[in-house]
Amino acid sequence: MIIARTRTELADALGRLRAEGGTLGLVPTMGFLHEGHLSLVDRAAGVSDHVAATIFVNPLQFGPDEDFEQYPRDEARDVRLLEERGAELVFIPATGVMYPSGQPLVTVDPGPMSDRLCGAFRPGHFRGVLTVVSKLFGLLRPDMAVFGRKDFQQAVLIRKMVQDLELGVEVVTGPIVREPDGLALSSRNTYLSPEERAQAPAIQAGLKAAASRFAEGERRARSLVEAVRAEVEPRSLLSLQYAELVDPESLEPADPAFEGAVLAVAAFAGATRLIDNLVLAAESR
Ligand code: PAJ
Repeated sequence: MIIARTRTELADALGRLRAEGGTLGLVPTMGFLHEGHLSLVDRAAGVSDHVAATIFVNPLQFGPDEDFEQYPRDEARDVRLLEERGAELVFIPATGVMYPSGQPLVTVDPGPMSDRLCGAFRPGHFRGVLTVVSKLFGLLRPDMAVFGRKDFQQAVLIRKMVQDLELGVEVVTGPIVREPDGLALSSRNTYLSPEERAQAPAIQAGLKAAASRFAEGERRARSLVEAVRAEVEPRSLLSLQYAELVDPESLEPADPAFEGAVLAVAAFAGATRLIDNLVLAAESR
């Protein structure tokens, strides 16, 4: 696997891969990789001939009071895991490589869909995400790019950006990978104390309770959201930031609920912000 840190190294590596022919699949990450990220590498390998990953903790998508400085990093381990999973190239730019003139003057406006869900609580976050993703698309020119459905709103906005700005990259999404007790894998799970970790699975338990209510015929969004609250609120270390049922295309509220609507949740476990979501299906899974 080639490790590229500069634009020149990246251009050389891409030249070599392109010379072999075939398509390039991209998996952008912020590192501290887990099975969720690696499942996307597998997915990329399934849909493209070459797989490139990127590791970049993007300062532009962190708010001033967020965890940019403490975000976990373990580059040596990440590189080993990517290599094991068959990635051929990893681009690991320093901040100055990615943003050579500091804060970019031109950024991607994520539009009104970024005012909802996580975007309502993280001003500027999706502008930062879309800006870095479009830069990565420009630098690597992939044929397809793979994103996890765990970051549901992010995946929706990236798909919309590619469509609205005609970026010509096929956006592929992969399912949420979870711990055996249901907690969605996240690099941030490492922040959890043992007590917080023990309570965190209540988030998915709430989503599953809502899914059962839906499968039994409940269509009132408020009642489905209530099922999430009923699981999360009794846990002393958890606090719900939002639980909302939305249309997966528009992110507008989905009331009455319908099959395919997404129940999205953000909750704090202590100081750690966790997100999760579930697609409503006629039969509870
Ligand atoms: P990061 O949080 O490192 O996630 C990288 C990719 O892994 C994203 O597409 C995310 O949805 C996916 N992912 C994370 N946890 C997952 C899980 N449990 N199951 C399946 N997929 C999972 O998301 C970002 O980085 C950044 O915003 C980025 C897109 C790289 C732009 O900076």
